[in-house]
Amino acid sequence: MAINGVETVVFSATNPDELIRFFEDFGLEGTRTAAGADFVLPEGSKVLVRKDSDPALPPKFLPGDGPREVIWGVDSQAALDAIEADLKTDRVVTKDADGTLRTVDPAGIRIGFRVFNRKPLEGKVSNLENSLTERPRWNKMRKWYDRARPQLIQHVVFATPNVDEQLDFYVGRLKFRVTDVSRGRGVFLRAEGRNEHHNFFIVNRPLGFHHMAFGLESIDELMVGANHMQRKGWKSQYGLGRHRASSIVFYYMTSPVGGEIEYTADGDFVDDNWQPGLWVPDFANRYWMAGDAPPVVEGEGMVPLPQPMPRFSEIR
Ligand SMILES: [Fe+2]
Repeated sequence: MAINGVETVVFSATNPDELIRFFEDFGLEGTRTAAGADFVLPEGSKVLVRKDSDPALPPKFLPGDGPREVIWGVDSQAALDAIEADLKTDRVVTKDADGTLRTVDPAGIRIGFRVFNRKPLEGKVSNLENSLTERPRWNKMRKWYDRARPQLIQHVVFATPNVDEQLDFYVGRLKFRVTDVSRGRGVFLRAEGRNEHHNFFIVNRPLGFHHMAFGLESIDELMVGANHMQRKGWKSQYGLGRHRASSIVFYYMTSPVGGEIEYTADGDFVDDNWQPGLWVPDFANRYWMAGDAPPVVEGEGMVPLPQPMPRFSEIR
């Protein structure tokens, strides 16, 4: 079985208009409906915004506005059937007429699974960067952007109080791969059917929505998007920077329903040959960050993660 990424995230809000406006400014394309708005990304994944009171939604797992459900994509019906058989051994799993499975993860997060035939993204830009001596872009200008248009859902991030329990479920049962561990802070997971550094990050804190990230094709597109969002009045708590773990260039914006929504570009791609690291959290988080000093780290900022991986709670 192979989970191939986030297929849908459903958000709900008492007044969904602000969030709909945010995602429109952010560059998602979709339609407003009587129920809220349906945004569809070029890869085929979706962001749905609904009224809090919508009777079609599953019960809330967090107080207030925010994510209501995360649907993971699965690459085949056989893989979906295998997930269903496995999850039914110890939890209630419902199945919609369209075959979507729904259940709850160990932290209480409402999750689902459905077959996700991801659309290949068009190679719009080669993104070749000239250095002082390497000149792959010769007699050619860089691509110009008017707006950022996210093409995929990169990752979702939830805080959960028992990281080991989540790892038993997502790694042990659903075959996510651990790409890196931020000591005491959390664990980066990659879906089996994807190669971005992480598609899911588990933060070691009380249950809550932390952030959700979307993929852009270049740093230029990210900067154009960030400028546009600033002009539209959307605030950023963490701003612009590059993480060391994952190499992602980021621009975070504060969502009107809580948590952050992130543009990402130029992240690492990894496969099962990747050697996971054990990181000092601030060192992993900040390679450079606009307007901020680099973290002061004593000793090694990153060492190889011992294998087999110890329990997260036992890592010192
Ligand atoms: Fe992120």
